[in-house]
Amino acid sequence: MLPNVSFLEASVAAGLGFALVFVHLWRRSRQKLQEDDPSQPRTMGSRVLIGGGSGFIGTALRKLLEHRGYQVTLISRTPGKNKITWDEVKKTGLPECYAVVGMQGSNILNIFRRWTDGFKKEVWDSRVETTKTLAQAISEASNPPKVWVSFSGVGYYKPSYVYDYDEDSPGGDFDYISQLATAWEEAAKLPAENTNTREVIIRSASTGVVLGRDGGAIKQMYFSFWFGSGGVIGDGMQFFPWIHINDLTRLVMHALENEKVTGVLNGVAPETITNWDFTKEFNTVLLRPGFFPLPRPIVNFALGEERAKMLTEGQAVVPKRTLESGFTFNFPKIKMAFDNMFSYRKWFFSY
Ligand SMILES: NC(=O)c1ccc[n+]([C@@H]2O[C@H](COP(=O)([O-])OP(=O)(O)OC[C@H]3O[C@@H](n4cnc5c(N)ncnc54)[C@H](OP(=O)(O)O)[C@@H]3O)[C@@H](O)[C@H]2O)c1
Repeated sequence: MLPNVSFLEASVAAGLGFALVFVHLWRRSRQKLQEDDPSQPRTMGSRVLIGGGSGFIGTALRKLLEHRGYQVTLISRTPGKNKITWDEVKKTGLPECYAVVGMQGSNILNIFRRWTDGFKKEVWDSRVETTKTLAQAISEASNPPKVWVSFSGVGYYKPSYVYDYDEDSPGGDFDYISQLATAWEEAAKLPAENTNTREVIIRSASTGVVLGRDGGAIKQMYFSFWFGSGGVIGDGMQFFPWIHINDLTRLVMHALENEKVTGVLNGVAPETITNWDFTKEFNTVLLRPGFFPLPRPIVNFALGEERAKMLTEGQAVVPKRTLESGFTFNFPKIKMAFDNMFSYRKWFFSY
């Protein structure tokens, strides 16, 4: 005998069931982002310190490290659980650890901050001075970490429509952003007599984007694209270095766990794209027209011309040493990255 349920109750039950299936599938698709390569060795219980680990990239890295059996301690401006502060590092040095990763820094593209000398100093010091603190603490540690990974940016390379830049290409001396990258990398250097700690620099997609649904540029741009107003920046022909956050965190893991990896690695995907390609893919995945370009003068006005160059100009950067070091990208192509980030759409739309 059928239970006596009203149409409303049946609809609510069906809606709930549908929502549960949706949430389950959605969570499963996101868990895939945390998957790592099971062939890699695990260093169970080792501690990794992450400077700036409470941010967008740091949070994803912390989850991946914990998933692989590491203990993670964040180095932060504020005290808290599983955290130490920069002042504590300065006063008492590093706690014993297997590795240190430095990815702290005030958000350069914070549109709520004007590009003043004061903000430029904050952007600079939050990367360079903090990195000096970490490098000094590592060099003074009685039991130094095995590996030290410090971030830098591909703004090191001069914007160009012509050149492809790899890790050995020149740069680092032509404007504020490139000088910042040089100073950041210099600050990370350990004294020449250091032989105990392996040093790796990851030049990440600082003039383009680290792609992930939970933060960074995609979160900032999502609503403008969702409303169909996400267009190209300037003429859209500038190169737009990018990397999926899953690949960036896996690259840090690769640097931590492979003893042969040293020196500079470009933390960008192998497919070089323009801002036009990026915009087209973003609009395609959201099924939006993307009619409205963002003219260069408006970006200059909003961000200040010097900073706006990070979006209006770009460089083609290739991860040559990264690939030679044996790293394989899960998302080498921009289409794959967008399909992954917005994979839930595939359950409802086929396109
Ligand atoms: N997201 C991107 O697309 C992208 C692209 C290329 C490069 N990067 C670089 O990668 C690093 C991490 O990026 P993210 O997106 O994870 O950044 P984020 O979300 O802004 O987090 C950065 C972290 O740095 C710390 N921080 C912020 N201001 C600071 C200051 N004035 N002094 C010291 N520490 C400060 C904060 O940690 P506490 O609050 O705990 O102190 C914050 O959680 C940054 O250096 C960024 O420039 C990011």
